[in-house]
Amino acid sequence: MSQTPFRTRLLSIAACGVLAGGVSACEHDNIDPGADLLAGKKAFAQKCGSCHVLERAGTQGATGPSLDAAFDRALRDGMGRGTIQGVVHDQILYPANVPQESEAYMPPKLVTGKLARDVAAYVAFAAARPGEDKGKLAAAGGTPPVPADAPPGLKLFVAGKDDAQACGNCHTLGAARTQATTGPDLDAVLKGKSAKEIEKAIVDPSAELTPGFSDIMPKDYGEALTDAELQELADYLAEQTG
Ligand code: HEC
Ligand code: HEC
Repeated sequence: MSQTPFRTRLLSIAACGVLAGGVSACEHDNIDPGADLLAGKKAFAQKCGSCHVLERAGTQGATGPSLDAAFDRALRDGMGRGTIQGVVHDQILYPANVPQESEAYMPPKLVTGKLARDVAAYVAFAAARPGEDKGKLAAAGGTPPVPADAPPGLKLFVAGKDDAQACGNCHTLGAARTQATTGPDLDAVLKGKSAKEIEKAIVDPSAELTPGFSDIMPKDYGEALTDAELQELADYLAEQTG
């Protein structure tokens, strides 16, 4: 990748800062200065985080590649973040055209238009960038920190464990402050369900699919979590969703 011409760099420095209430990209990044990183981060956490690790967004999905790892090499090789933005934008609109059952399947156009550009800009800004997001950006997006004294069910829900992907990567649950929309909103669908029914849905998610959703919830929670952990999780969810 060739170096950015000096003049464009000056331009992007001039455009750096907070634009129209949003948070925009900065300095030599060469990311579209009109992009709203705040909106991009929120949408990333909701629509993409269930499948991708992106450290700054606090997401831990493992179905697709870690986006930190994916772009770390390219950055070291001198690819500009502006170029990465374009790569991510293309991937959002036109991922590999493979069947849904394939391991390489990524759903196309999860975000479109301006929001697709915002998400691409945030990924380009955040990928493999050391440190944490600051200011308004810090509060947006991924998994909020869980206090050490939180109930075990809440911890498992938000942070997962070893091979058990965090539930909050895919599900909204008010009590856990998660907002992902890949799976059903548990506040809405678990009303009136018993802990026993919920535990069954966690261990055998394919048995009864929630209408409007596909069969992508991990099937191995029965092995990845102990019986005691499954019960804590199910009790916690039954308690929170009534
Ligand atoms: C259901 C899981 C899933 C979701 C949701 C998802 N992706 Fe992906 N993504 C994948 C998989 C699997 C791949 C690897 C296959 C490929 O490279 O085409 C991938 C690849 C990528 C790549 C290429 C990484 C590389 O190694 O070059 C980028 C960038 C990306 N995704 C960004 C996103 C963004 C942004 C979103 C949200 C708008 C998103 N993904 C949502 C599964 C997903
Ligand atoms: C990769 C995304 C993903 C992860 C991670 C995930 N789920 Fe799901 N979940 C889904 C999807 C999609 C559905 C709807 C399809 C189905 O019913 O299997 C679902 C369905 C459910 C249901 C059934 C809802 C109903 O309508 O009765 C429950 C309960 C549930 N999930 C709980 C959990 C818990 C608890 C965890 C963590 C241990 C978890 N999920 C992790 C995606 C996910």
